[in-house]
Amino acid sequence: MINSDNMANSFDISVHSLAGNGRDGLCSGHLPLAQTEEGRRAPSLTVDDHAKQQATFYLETFGCQMNEHDSEKVAGVLLARGYKQVESVEAASVVLYNTCSIREKAAQKVFSRLGEFRFAQRQDQLIGVLGCVAQQEGEKIFTRAPWVNLVCGSASYRKLPQLLAELEAGNRRVTGLETDTDETFETEVTRRDNPWRAYLTIIEGCDKACSYCVVPFTRGPERSRSSASILEEVRKLAGAGYTEVQLLGQTVNSYADPSARGMRFSELLVAVAEVQGIRRVRFTTSHPRDFGKDIVEAMETVPEVCEHVHLPVQSGSTKVLRAMARTYTRDEYLEKIAMLRAAKREISLTTDIIVGFPGETDKDFEETLSLLDAAQYDGAFSFKYSPRPNTPSLKIADAIPEEEKSRRLALLMEKQREIQRARNEKLVGRHFEVMVEGKSRRENQWSGHTSSNKVMNFTSREQESLGDYLQVKVISATPNSLVGEKLSVAAIYGV
Ligand code: 5AD
Ligand code: SF4
Repeated sequence: MINSDNMANSFDISVHSLAGNGRDGLCSGHLPLAQTEEGRRAPSLTVDDHAKQQATFYLETFGCQMNEHDSEKVAGVLLARGYKQVESVEAASVVLYNTCSIREKAAQKVFSRLGEFRFAQRQDQLIGVLGCVAQQEGEKIFTRAPWVNLVCGSASYRKLPQLLAELEAGNRRVTGLETDTDETFETEVTRRDNPWRAYLTIIEGCDKACSYCVVPFTRGPERSRSSASILEEVRKLAGAGYTEVQLLGQTVNSYADPSARGMRFSELLVAVAEVQGIRRVRFTTSHPRDFGKDIVEAMETVPEVCEHVHLPVQSGSTKVLRAMARTYTRDEYLEKIAMLRAAKREISLTTDIIVGFPGETDKDFEETLSLLDAAQYDGAFSFKYSPRPNTPSLKIADAIPEEEKSRRLALLMEKQREIQRARNEKLVGRHFEVMVEGKSRRENQWSGHTSSNKVMNFTSREQESLGDYLQVKVISATPNSLVGEKLSVAAIYGV
């Protein structure tokens, strides 16, 4: 898991080969897509045509797991309205892009998609921009791409049914752009991609105001979901056969139960893990400031809470951390790591790092490299600093040239690769529980994740069932994955 700007998905730590538990789940009914004001993008279909033709949507997602999960909820809302999900733009009556603006490259991707669509668009097609670029650019999207019909940020997804109704009634420009909400987007109709691992957002938005980050602008203020509603959903998920739950939030451990019960994040972890049928509970992303001993204790005492923490450090230099407004020093961060390393369970640790923040000197960068040695991460997502609209860091002088950012990124990735190689090689000979998540085209080859979130590619001569949990012995290692073979029952019990 050495990742960089060049890779598509910054948080992507899951195997996607299993996606799809009935994408067309709720597809029935017909949608009366009416005439628009100008008739331009209006579906020119008669009522009779509609009776024959079902409204369809294509949804493409960019960015983090929060966005992926938002898309699962958005898809659920559309399916419940009678739309059918399709796998190509051509086959869709509504084309939706759920966008990411964390770095400029991600945001640009959306505009190139919109450009492509302009030439491919049919008369009867509508197009919507959702997510962070929608929130960031707002109505300006209509100026830049006048063929867009819907612009909606994540803080307004609760309004989606209403916005869809407006589109269906013929409105040609529909927006949901408010961020001053204290509500979270909850829906009964989420259409999840993976039949065993369920994402579940427990806190939306972010109040941390790191000086480089657009998230507080694009996702609005922190809003936590009530513990009762989270636990009810987890019970339903367990009943539906899910065994792994991944709790999501930009700062998941800043969770603050809004109900009278007032559960702390660590208590919620335990309560989720205690739901019958749940074997694994993951959580991401944690902010170092709110990462307390109580979370480590929950991990120590409850085996269902997975032994992995994603704890973004961003920089190893206290001076840069201060300029980033991260609210901790290098030493304070290292104390958190020491606390994790002292836990009774072995906990794997991953991080995010930004190189080339304005004013980052060679010495500051050296401190980030030396922090890698000290922290011994099992994975690191590293990024070149990208100036983002509205963020305070735009005003910081002393920008680092692009080539220098690239040089630092390459050095950092190379160093981290060697750390991971050494750490993974130490695991050879040990065995771990793995959830079977994918089958390779190669005979007898399977893949899955350990509780510590390491990718395990393994051999088994049996016909395994996806979603099962097996014991796998590590026989070799690479910087990014483990290679293993399934342990027979006899080997596990030493007979
Ligand atoms: N430039 C580069 N990387 C960024 N991140 C957030 N904002 C920026 C930016 N402006 C990175 C941080 C964060 C991760 C999700 O993306 O490392 O933890
Ligand atoms: Fe952005 Fe900082 Fe909030 Fe993370 S904690 S989403 S980096 S502002």
